[in-house]
Amino acid sequence: MAQPGWFPERLEGDRVVLRRHVPGNLRAFERWYADPEVARLTRYQDGPMRRDEIERFFAARVVGRDSLALAIHERRNDRLIGTTAFSQLDGENGSAMYHITIGEKDAWGKGYGTEATQLMLRHAFGTLGLHRIALAVFEFNERAIRSYRSCGFVVEGRAREAIWRDGRWWDEVTMSILDSEWQPRSAAAGRAEHAEPGVRGTVERTPQEAAAP
Ligand SMILES: CC(C)(COP(=O)(O)OP(=O)(O)OC[C@H]1O[C@@H](n2cnc3c(N)ncnc32)[C@H](O)[C@@H]1OP(=O)(O)O)[C@@H](O)C(=O)NCCC(=O)NCCS
Repeated sequence: MAQPGWFPERLEGDRVVLRRHVPGNLRAFERWYADPEVARLTRYQDGPMRRDEIERFFAARVVGRDSLALAIHERRNDRLIGTTAFSQLDGENGSAMYHITIGEKDAWGKGYGTEATQLMLRHAFGTLGLHRIALAVFEFNERAIRSYRSCGFVVEGRAREAIWRDGRWWDEVTMSILDSEWQPRSAAAGRAEHAEPGVRGTVERTPQEAAAP
């Protein structure tokens, strides 16, 4: 369960801005998750989500506190293009699962997803003080795997032949990144850029602080 203080006001990069979802974003979710191509890359079940499933998902995991979810907006025109989230936030062990969906397909392959993931990792490790972020991705989702690798995620395991899709079995790949791996990458990126885009916003209590007696 995400504590209110863990949500940043906004996370700002060169190309995308992440900020809290608003109820009106449900319309975009209905379009994104009804798309067979988006569903193929993101769902364990075959086929798109039903409207009632999307509404439940949006209420619990997007505007609710089950996850720390943020909307992805293109910076140049503020268009809503996707969503990103940490779920299974575990303050005691400093870990969370990471998720991202850019639902506007014309925004794929432009570096937005990689930048959004970098901003989320900076929030997780740099601000919340988490220790480990993990994710699961289907073996055939090469664009996502490349993006995650370039953010520093490494493959830590495979659930063999866990997914039946397009007439064959595929592995589900588990990837993760630790704070000890993120810190030197972040420092090197900071040195290279001289000025990193800042994470603007306030966080009242980190998961560790919240979990502390
Ligand atoms: C996965 C996703 C977040 C990636 O974000 P993106 O903005 O599209 O991707 P980026 O442009 O940041 O980078 C993708 C990387 O894959 C490469 N790539 C782009 N299109 C590709 C394709 N069709 N096949 C394989 N690799 C591709 C890019 O060159 C880049 O790699 P590089 O940095 O080594 O050059 C986004 O495509 C998305 O949300 N897709 C639909 C939902 C989804 O798959 N979510 C993830 C579920 S685990």
